[in-house]
Amino acid sequence: MTISQFSCSGIELALFRYPKQQESNLQAWDAADEHLIKMLVESQQQPLNTAIINDSFGALQCALTSINPTWPLMVETDAKTSLLGAKQNLADNQLNTDNIRYFNSRDLLPQSIQLVLMKLPKNLSYFAHQLQRLSQILPQGTQVFIAAKAKSINKSILTTIEQNLGSASASLTWKKTRVITCISDGNKRSLPQSVTWKVAELGLSMSNLSNVFAANKLDIGARIMLDNMPTGEFSSVIDLGCGNGILGLRAAQLYPQAQIHFVDDSEMAIESSRINWQANHPDANRATFHWDDCLTHLDNVTPDLVLCNPPFHQGEAITDHIAWQMFLDAYRKLSPGGILHVVGNRHLAYHVKIKRIFKNCHTIASNGKFVILQAKKQAVN
Ligand SMILES: C[S@@+](CC[C@H](N)C(=O)[O-])C[C@H]1O[C@@H](n2cnc3c(N)ncnc32)[C@H](O)[C@@H]1O
Repeated sequence: MTISQFSCSGIELALFRYPKQQESNLQAWDAADEHLIKMLVESQQQPLNTAIINDSFGALQCALTSINPTWPLMVETDAKTSLLGAKQNLADNQLNTDNIRYFNSRDLLPQSIQLVLMKLPKNLSYFAHQLQRLSQILPQGTQVFIAAKAKSINKSILTTIEQNLGSASASLTWKKTRVITCISDGNKRSLPQSVTWKVAELGLSMSNLSNVFAANKLDIGARIMLDNMPTGEFSSVIDLGCGNGILGLRAAQLYPQAQIHFVDDSEMAIESSRINWQANHPDANRATFHWDDCLTHLDNVTPDLVLCNPPFHQGEAITDHIAWQMFLDAYRKLSPGGILHVVGNRHLAYHVKIKRIFKNCHTIASNGKFVILQAKKQAVN
């Protein structure tokens, strides 16, 4: 059973992941969140203009707002599930949201930030990018607290912080976590260029922003998918969990009549897909882009093909609950006779889930590591 009762330094909250109903028993916060909150409460931190970065499901926003409902918060997130989860938890705990402003990971951050609370993300290129973004706006001397599992903090993390923002030192360990204190040095760093590479045999030129899956080369799962795309004529195709959009771009080549819908939880992935569409396809009207949690808000789309290379982790947690949600959403959205076409690691046994939902599932191709699975939504007689 999932524990949802958050209790730390006198703050009591009920916190859930997003979506609330999910096939996982993962918690909506971790000990690194508690460490940051404990530190702020013990030092009697005053409510300065505070940036919160990588707050998984809003634990930090809820805690600070319950300490002081007028605490001005500027929240940066790349993940739609994080944004929706924070809003859900703030509402469920009846907390004031009037002083919270949201930013994605490409928006210009306000110059008025006086304090930064950050969770260390899994992707370290993205982390360096976030520090560079902060370096562009933080005055010299601003405190930046970065919390993480103690085992994730090493010399190279401290060097990354020092190179990209300012001096850094780590606290003692508490509940197997540490908080790094960085003091910004006031020097602006330039932002990274997106990584560009080619899939020569398909004539595609790809580029990835810093938090996009498969940073600088084709993913091996995507490769086997590209070699085994469905045959037929399709009119509406969803690239579900599109990353840089490689599967949807290939679908646009193979099915010239099809409208292609790119969907991802990561705003940077959606932006990369848009950039890659513009670089590879002249017809802007054939593509639409959706920053969404699976297919939650795709109201007017009825695909006849869903292409999917599902994620098998969320942040630090290894989980297949997002794959589950993707298969369920695909089933709900597909037109009768429509097809779900999936690539996955063989050991993840996606065929069991797909068969439960679609009542059919065929192996189209496989190699030592991956399988391509296909299921058809049966037409109702
Ligand atoms: C394994 S990658 C596949 C990327 C790309 N389609 C490829 O084949 O290279 C999975 C993608 O799913 C996205 N994702 C994770 N959770 C999601 C969710 N809840 N809704 C939509 N997309 C999600 C990730 O951001 C990531 O881009």
